[in-house]
Amino acid sequence: MSESSAPISGAMKGSNAKRGLWSSRLAFILAATGSAVGLGNVWKFPYITGENGGGAFVLVYLLCIAAIGLPIMMAEVLIGRRGGRSPVNSLREIARHDKLNPAWPIVGAIGVIAGFLILSFYSVIGGWAASYVVKAGSGQLAGQSADAIGAIFSDLLADPATLLMWHTLFMALVMLVVAKGVRAGLERAVSILMPALFLLLLTVVGYAMTTGEFGRAVTFLFQPDFSKLTTSGILVALGHAFFTLSLGMAVMMAYGSYLPKNISIAKTSIAVCVIDTGVALLAGLAIFPIVFANGLEPGAGPGLIFQTLPLAFAQMPMGSLFGTLFFVLLIFAAWTSGISLLEPIVEWLEEQKGMNRTTSTLGAGFVCWALGITSILSLNLWSDFAPLGAISMLEGKTIFDLLDFFTANILLPLGGLLIAVFAGWVMSRQAMEDELALSKPMFRLWYITVRYITPVAVGAVFIYNLIGS
Ligand code: PFF
Repeated sequence: MSESSAPISGAMKGSNAKRGLWSSRLAFILAATGSAVGLGNVWKFPYITGENGGGAFVLVYLLCIAAIGLPIMMAEVLIGRRGGRSPVNSLREIARHDKLNPAWPIVGAIGVIAGFLILSFYSVIGGWAASYVVKAGSGQLAGQSADAIGAIFSDLLADPATLLMWHTLFMALVMLVVAKGVRAGLERAVSILMPALFLLLLTVVGYAMTTGEFGRAVTFLFQPDFSKLTTSGILVALGHAFFTLSLGMAVMMAYGSYLPKNISIAKTSIAVCVIDTGVALLAGLAIFPIVFANGLEPGAGPGLIFQTLPLAFAQMPMGSLFGTLFFVLLIFAAWTSGISLLEPIVEWLEEQKGMNRTTSTLGAGFVCWALGITSILSLNLWSDFAPLGAISMLEGKTIFDLLDFFTANILLPLGGLLIAVFAGWVMSRQAMEDELALSKPMFRLWYITVRYITPVAVGAVFIYNLIGS
C-alpha cells in the first residue's frame, strides 16, 4: 500500500481517492498470496489427494483451478476494484449505480458466515502446527520410528486441554493483528517467508527423492486412474479449488478494491494461482514418497502431514532445525490466511453494527474460538458423534468434518457461483471490458467462462452429488 502503515480495513469506508492503494502489483500479489497459501496447501491438499486416490483427483483439482478458480478470482478482483469499497458496499454500490437487485450484497454475507465457520476449525489445525514447533525444536521427533511418530500425533489428538491451549494461542495471534490493523508489515514479511517456505518444501522434496519411492509418488500424483475418482471426489476437488485460492467469500474482492487501475487483473490473478498451486504440488511431492517408503496409508486423513513430515525431519541431517523452521513457516502461512478469514467479519460488524475495531475483533474472535472447541472435541470425546449422520452423504462425519464439508464444498462454491453470475449476467459488459483490458479473444474466453461454464460446472457438481447421495 502506498500508505504503508495504514490498516487495510481502517480505510475501507472512504472513497477510492482517500483509501491507500497497493503501491505496486507485487504488494497485491503478496497480500493475496498470504491469504491463499496456508494450511489448505500444505495440510489439506495432500490428505484429500490421498483420500481420493491421487492422479485423477489432482487432475480435476488442477482443471478446477484453471477453468473455474482463475476466472472467479479475476471476477472478484474486478468487482472489488470497480466498487472501490468493502465487499458488501462494493456490491451495493455497483447494484445501485446500475439499478440492479439490491439483494446482491448477500454474497458478502456468505463471506462473513464462511469466514467465521472456517476460522473456527482452521485455528485448531493452526494449533497442531504450533505444537509441532515445540515437538521438533525440543528434539522429541529426532530418530523416531514411523510408529512412534504416529503415536505422538494420536496422543496430541486425544488431549483436549493441550489442543485447546494451542487453538487459543493461534486465535490470539490472528485477533491481535486484526484488532491492531497492522497488516502492512505482515504482508511485507510474506515476501521473505513464503519463498522460505517454498525452499524448505524443496529441501524436503530433495530428501524425499532419496527414499527410493519418489517415482511411485510421482505416479500416484500425476498418473490419473479414473476408476478411483468418485462423484464426491469431484465435489471435494472443486471445493478445494475455492478454499485454497480463498475464493467465494469476497476476500479477493476486498483486496481488489485496493488495486490501482493500471495493473493487470489477469496477470496478477494468474501469478497468485500459480504460486498457490506450486506450493500444494510441492507439498504433495514432499509427503507421498515418505508415505510409500514407510508403508503408511495415503488415505490416513487430516493427520497425514503430521505423521509423515516429522519422519523426514527425524531422519535427515539437522532435522530438528529444519523441522522447527518448517512448522514456524507453516504457522506463518496459516496466520496470514487466518487474518483474511476474520477480517470480513470484523469489517461487517464495524460497518453494519457500528462497533469499533477492538470490540468487534474481540467479540467475533471469541465466538469463533468457542465454536472451535466443538472441533477439538470431535477429535476425541465426541469422535463418534455424527450429528447429521442420518443423511447418507454426511454419514460418520463429526462436527469438525461437517464444518469443513459445509464451508469448503457448499458455501464457497455457492459464493463463487453467485459472483460468477453477478459478473456474467448482471454487471455491464463494457465496465468489465474496461477493467480487464484484455485482448478481444481473451476477454471473450473469460466472459463465456464466468457466464456459462462456471455456473453450469458448479451447478452440475452440486446436483450430481445430491442425486448420488
Ligand atoms: N486459502 C487458505 C488456505 O489454503 O489455507 C484458506 C482460506 C483463507 C480460505 C481465506 C478462504 C479464505 F477466505
